Amino acid sequence: MQTNTLKMIVNSKIKKQILMCAPTYFEVTYAINPAMARTLACKIAVNQFKAMEQWTGLKDIYTKEGFDVVLIDPVKGLPDMVFTANCGIVNDGRAIIGEFKHAQRKPETEYFEKWFKENDYGIIHIKEEFEGTGDMLLWKDNIIGGHGVRSGLDGITKVAKFFTFLGRGKDLVPVKLVDDNYYHLDTCFCPMGENALFYPKAFSADSIEVLLEMGAMPINDKDARSMLPNGVYLDNGKGIKFIASKISREWRNALEKLGIEIILNPTSEFQKSGGSNRCLTLFL
Ligand code: ARG
Repeated sequence: MQTNTLKMIVNSKIKKQILMCAPTYFEVTYAINPAMARTLACKIAVNQFKAMEQWTGLKDIYTKEGFDVVLIDPVKGLPDMVFTANCGIVNDGRAIIGEFKHAQRKPETEYFEKWFKENDYGIIHIKEEFEGTGDMLLWKDNIIGGHGVRSGLDGITKVAKFFTFLGRGKDLVPVKLVDDNYYHLDTCFCPMGENALFYPKAFSADSIEVLLEMGAMPINDKDARSMLPNGVYLDNGKGIKFIASKISREWRNALEKLGIEIILNPTSEFQKSGGSNRCLTLFL
């Protein structure tokens, strides 16, 4: 039996794993999204101590909830490596990795690829633009793929083919992102079991229709700006939880009615770079 097959069996019997990267070198030195541009224009600095505290807060929640958090070493000069969600997507012990859109993040790939190799993952590297689980989320037996800002339609289509090929048999639902402020799917769409939240203004008219038809619940401008969709939905057999950096009373009530417990973990420092809890997380 191959090592990675064995590892998968062992892992699935033990604990679900999450890949994170410590914010040792996290800062905002370039702008590839509007939040970063605002941070630079207003000369707002990242508070390194607070960033480490917020990241550790998230890591501790995962550990407490029964997940096994594994770490990749941060690399000096690659501040966005903390956002592990974007390096690829993992399916059955194989990592599917694409190209980052922006030159500033391209060098991260080499380090993530090395980590996956050293940890016995199979690697499928495609040359199309694809920013991992930032732009691809599974929902109700479908692969929801966001394209138009970072990942390309060709990228998400190719990755979805590998999913089918690898035996998951899920269909791709491509959705088009049209607002640079919501540059990844996980900034404006969040699957929650059978339910999902989404921010309509971030999507094309056709995609809004598709998501509404599938039963996604629209959120307003304020909830979108507070990065509500970048929260993390956890269903680990110990009750359903949602990790949010901030949540309006309205959504807290609505989610609690659905039996979802809210766990708060503020992410002010990472929001200076356009990211929150979900971006700091890669489910393996
Ligand atoms: N500064 C990062 C970027 O623009 C933030 C990435 C956030 N990640 C996410 N999954 N939305 O690429």
